[in-house]
Amino acid sequence: MNTDIESIRQAVRDFKIENAAQLEEFRLQFVSRKGKIAALFTGLGKFAAEERAAVGKVLNELKNEAQQRFDQAKLNLESSIHTQRSATDDITLQAPPRPVGSLHPLTLTLEEIKKVFYRLGFSIAEGPEIEDDFHNFTSLNFPPEHPARDMQDTFYIHKDAERIDKDLLLRTHTSPVQIRKMLEQKPPIRSIMPGRVYRNESVTYKSYFLFHQVEALYVDKNVNFAELKETLVMLAEMVFNRKVEYRLRPSFFPFTEPSLEMDIWWEQPGKPGKWLEILGAGMVHPNVLKSVDIDPEVYSGFALGMGVERMTSLRYGIDDIRIYYENDIRFLEQFQ
Ligand code: DAH
Repeated sequence: MNTDIESIRQAVRDFKIENAAQLEEFRLQFVSRKGKIAALFTGLGKFAAEERAAVGKVLNELKNEAQQRFDQAKLNLESSIHTQRSATDDITLQAPPRPVGSLHPLTLTLEEIKKVFYRLGFSIAEGPEIEDDFHNFTSLNFPPEHPARDMQDTFYIHKDAERIDKDLLLRTHTSPVQIRKMLEQKPPIRSIMPGRVYRNESVTYKSYFLFHQVEALYVDKNVNFAELKETLVMLAEMVFNRKVEYRLRPSFFPFTEPSLEMDIWWEQPGKPGKWLEILGAGMVHPNVLKSVDIDPEVYSGFALGMGVERMTSLRYGIDDIRIYYENDIRFLEQFQ
């Protein structure tokens, strides 16, 4: 009996368990109720009562050892199952295609806007999102007490926590890039300036503390209002991919004179049509040209600015601005 126990113990220890079939074989031989260890228990009855307890103890240890080996081997196999390759796998097969992401709807709209201006010979200019008062306001002809400079609208950056410092700020529009462009290059200038802008607004379905704008600037000799108008109509028709009914409404911006806002007529099935504002524009104010050392007696220009979110919402019928920044894949996947 003792030699039987010893040889089975050795067999339990030596048994190779490297796959599910071997595991099952081990179970049948050593763990199951019809296995070798169970058979030894059956033989216990032949022992004299004095011996029975001692042999039983040894048998129990063996039984536990086999059970532990089985449990451990099973765990190991299960955890490696995902990395294991079976003999029938064809490793020359092409991998399934990786899902490709889609362009963000804001990017799609921006691409459309860029196309219009590329055609007209405009290039792209960029500027910093952290601006100073000069570029964001002063040089753009904002009077010192203009409400846009108010803390309610503008995020100011305080270099010194103790002192309110109104020089550094997050740009509130892309117009400061006009100033940077005119300071670095003499006319003719034909540029668009896309980018992020920031305003201290609460988050609602129609407002957010950051959004995107595209600015356009054209400065040369004899730039006139008719060219601005033509550009605006071409822009609207290309972005919305149809003939648009539009109106140019007199408006006010410190950096343009005259200034206008462009509305387009908007109709949706089952709803009354309405005028919707899509952008602001105007002829560059002489004070702005002077602030960058361009002679307004010689040069003139037009500028325009639009919100990319607004354009995108109109193009795709999106009614909540917050969805642009949530990166919800179910939303993004609709723009394949
Ligand atoms: N900067 C203006 C804004 O943020 C938009 C704008 C209006 C830009 C008229 C222009 C312009 O260049 O001519 O509301």
